[in-house]
Amino acid sequence: MALTPDFDTYPDDVTVTNARLAPRWVAVSWSDGTLARFHHAWLRDNCPCAGCVHQVTKEQVFEFVGAPVDNPPSAAEAGDDGTLEVVWSVDGHHSSYDAGWLFAYRYDDGLGARPTEVPDDAPVVWDGSTEGVPATFDGPAVLADDEALLEWLLALRAYGLTRLRDVPTELDAVGRVAARIGIVRETNFGVLWDVRSEVAPVTNANTSFALPPHVDLAMREYQPGLQFLHCIENSTRGGQGTYLDGLRVADVLRAEQPDAFRVLTTVPWQFANRSPVSDYRWAVTPIVLDAAGNVTEVRVGNWLRAPLAVAFDDVEPAYAALRALFELTYRQDLAVRTSLEPGDVLAFDNRRILHGRDAFEPTSGRRFLRGCYGERDELASRIRILQRARREAQLPR
Ligand code: OGA
Ligand code: ZN
Ligand code: ZN
Repeated sequence: MALTPDFDTYPDDVTVTNARLAPRWVAVSWSDGTLARFHHAWLRDNCPCAGCVHQVTKEQVFEFVGAPVDNPPSAAEAGDDGTLEVVWSVDGHHSSYDAGWLFAYRYDDGLGARPTEVPDDAPVVWDGSTEGVPATFDGPAVLADDEALLEWLLALRAYGLTRLRDVPTELDAVGRVAARIGIVRETNFGVLWDVRSEVAPVTNANTSFALPPHVDLAMREYQPGLQFLHCIENSTRGGQGTYLDGLRVADVLRAEQPDAFRVLTTVPWQFANRSPVSDYRWAVTPIVLDAAGNVTEVRVGNWLRAPLAVAFDDVEPAYAALRALFELTYRQDLAVRTSLEPGDVLAFDNRRILHGRDAFEPTSGRRFLRGCYGERDELASRIRILQRARREAQLPR
């Protein structure tokens, strides 16, 4: 197999069968009939040879900025073992590309480059009528077995909300669950934190009040991407949880109230916490879009807002739009309601899923949750590593 500039394995059932050199690109055909063009600059930049990529770190050593702008290949052809072979005209440098790698990274079909190790990571958007939310998995299996871990993580990425059952009701267990994914995110609440009704709470979460649907730590620029809530005890009356898919809420808003949607994606709100020892503030639109216009974040946190500070003419539209968003978070048809039982860990995307709870009667029993945070990055990386291991295990020996 030819070198690749990474640690992954690629399908060996496609080979390069033909290469045609054009003035600005090389047109490559594979054995399955696929045809794709690659620009000269792209190919030169991605040469995987030992001179261009450090063979231990697999990180690039070649600097394209130091190479001639005008350096077309003098030759491009299919190699004897199914690779693409390119010779560069300026310095005679020789590049050899693995067929499976090149196939995985082709970008000439209108979809853009997408490495095959991430099959379909489009979110499954849900509401109160969707069956099987939250998808539920066996906690001990997830803690012990990587296949069970991967199944859980794929659901977490797709739905943004999942539940584990039968996680030991030990104080450090939620940290062990989160560490199955990656680095646990420490915040002003510490690494692991408690949710229970307290005499001198530092946050509304540690009262017995109802919490309206929200995301945690909305006032931080670097807001945690994942949240884990582990139920240790729950015998009080009340305290039932409400969960909404922020992507669905945003979709409904976009369809039903496009003006409000536009305001919520363009006019920032100020978020802030109140504390004697910390003072986090951040200004951002409650709905964040990516470059393609897809919703990537929904920031809802009624009690973590600071006074609105925008242009005079934006104040009334900003309030009207935020009211429209908050009203949707109370729509029962969009919400899933569930109670936590001891041993349950609820794991969710803290920048997508809104969570809330009913008020509870603190003297009617005991209610004690332990929580921690993680990051979207850690989830995505763990999924890729587990999938890579699965592919390696499937290789013929
Ligand atoms: C929180 C929270 C939910 C619950 O602590 O931020 O939302 O059920 N808790 O107590
Ligand atoms: Zn090279
Ligand atoms: Zn919360």
